Amino acid sequence: MPSISVFGAQWGDEGKGKLIDLLSRDADYVVRYQGGANAGHTVVVEGEKYILHLIPSGILHPSKVNIIGNGVALDPFKFLDEVAGLTQRGIHVDGQNLRVSANAHVIFEHHRRLDQLSERWRGQGRIGTTGRGIGPCYADKAARTGLRVCDLLEPDHCRTRLGAALAEKNAMIEQVHGAEPLDLDAELDRYVAVGQRIAPFVADTGAEVRAAYRAKKRILFEGAQGAMLDIDAGTYPFVTSSNTGATGISAGAAFPPRWIERAIGIAKAYTTRVGEGPFPTELHDEVGARIREQGHEYGSTTGRPRRCGWFDAVAVRFALELSGADGWIVTNLDVLSGFKEISAAVAYKIKGRSVRDWPAATADIGEIEPVWAQHPGWSEDITGVRRFEDLPQNARNYVEWLEREVGAPIVMLSVGPARDQVISRGL
Ligand code: IMP
Repeated sequence: MPSISVFGAQWGDEGKGKLIDLLSRDADYVVRYQGGANAGHTVVVEGEKYILHLIPSGILHPSKVNIIGNGVALDPFKFLDEVAGLTQRGIHVDGQNLRVSANAHVIFEHHRRLDQLSERWRGQGRIGTTGRGIGPCYADKAARTGLRVCDLLEPDHCRTRLGAALAEKNAMIEQVHGAEPLDLDAELDRYVAVGQRIAPFVADTGAEVRAAYRAKKRILFEGAQGAMLDIDAGTYPFVTSSNTGATGISAGAAFPPRWIERAIGIAKAYTTRVGEGPFPTELHDEVGARIREQGHEYGSTTGRPRRCGWFDAVAVRFALELSGADGWIVTNLDVLSGFKEISAAVAYKIKGRSVRDWPAATADIGEIEPVWAQHPGWSEDITGVRRFEDLPQNARNYVEWLEREVGAPIVMLSVGPARDQVISRGL
């Protein structure tokens, strides 16, 4: 494995945690480059379930270096909670195997408050955020009013900058939203103290990852959320606030784009989405409910029931192309066992016109009618299958159809939550 990008090719929750955990066996460095604790990567190791929100999945393997890059929005309290949780369960975590960029932006309590308060004002336009302060933190980054991890490490400097930011945010919280303001002194004390606690993890991670590449180390870039939630290419404004595919790596990990040698997308054999926004293949009927129950489709960060629907080849084609993916991985194929018939969208009808490409304008996205292809299902339990040729014929047909429709090789299939429940097709 050279440098490889592994990213979600739908609206998040594609089962990246398990696959990234599996692929990180062959990596020396595992790097997060965007998003924050809005992500929820679930990994099952020897029957033990771990949900990682912020820390790269490589932490579950000894001797990997795990990096939280400058493009991540870091909630220092959540970070330390996650470190403590892992340590309690016997996972070794220290400043050597977990490194945090000095340039990562910090999520403060006022970001979390404002994330939740702004949602209430949006009414019909609400995004359904995870409420983790992600959007307001990135907004401050762009407005040049944010604080970075390096700002937390210097108590006097931190008090001055955070004091100024908080005075303005408190005015917003109180006067615009009519909510209780934050106690300025208590907040300053809390963040100055937490800065000292995260100090042992802080590093110039960009320089480290580039040096690792030059030293021919194997680097895995772990995407969070999914391509269709990308702030530029996704279903704006119903998106997260970062670049979620391979496109985010360069800026978010300080890593040259030409050094990304391979990209692999991950998509479920059907589609899910949490939060609001367009979802062309969504099912509001008992079939959607059945996918939710069979797939245990409830958010790992928020516990929210996920919206469910059939596979959307238009969206996945678009997602893979954007990141220049060499191939993709299909997850949760086992969840479709027992459906008599399986549908998938091959194209869209928009205002009477049939299109195979994802439409650029959000106004058009609301008008989409999927053009369906039907496939006969299979009834066998496939969770124990480890070779492609041992899958039921109809399952093989469905996978080969997906591959043709999307136009990129499927390099692996996942048929259950455990590490070993995979079918390799060249990866
Ligand atoms: P935010 O990232 O909390 O601002 O939320 C923006 C949108 O992205 C909402 O629709 C969230 O439900 C969605 N989102 C954020 N993180 C994830 C994730 O890890 N999986 C799936 N959806 C996510």
